[in-house]
Amino acid sequence: MRIILSCFFLFSFAFCVDGKVIFEKYCWGCHHQTSLAFGPSFEEIANKRTSGEIIAHINNPAESFKNLGYKRSVMPPFVLTADEYEAISNYILSFKSTKKD
Ligand code: HEC
Repeated sequence: MRIILSCFFLFSFAFCVDGKVIFEKYCWGCHHQTSLAFGPSFEEIANKRTSGEIIAHINNPAESFKNLGYKRSVMPPFVLTADEYEAISNYILSFKSTKKD
């Protein structure tokens, strides 16, 4: 079980966002964790991208797809909070393969 939390603190409360919840809510229809779906798997993305590239693509795929080497883009943009971008990016990066190729 993977829980990747991103938190910020206000007064004595912690506000946390779980990357897996964002994945299940917005991304699951097109991306799977380790297998190819309509879009690339999170494992494949984690193996070749930085958190900056991942967040840029989620926020504005129409701007970013050329930088990532795609000929066209069909992914819709997602406007999330800074915490949510961080949580989903950390969640994706947690699938980076540990084996050497
Ligand atoms: C309607 C289907 C769809 C949804 C929903 C979707 N994606 Fe995508 N995503 C794609 C496709 C297809 C690509 C390939 C490039 C493109 O079309 O922009 C992609 C590409 C990406 C990339 C860049 C891949 C690379 O090569 O590094 C990232 C990162 C990404 N998606 C993250 C997400 C996240 C996070 C969510 C949920 C918040 C999400 N996507 C929701 C279809 C989708």
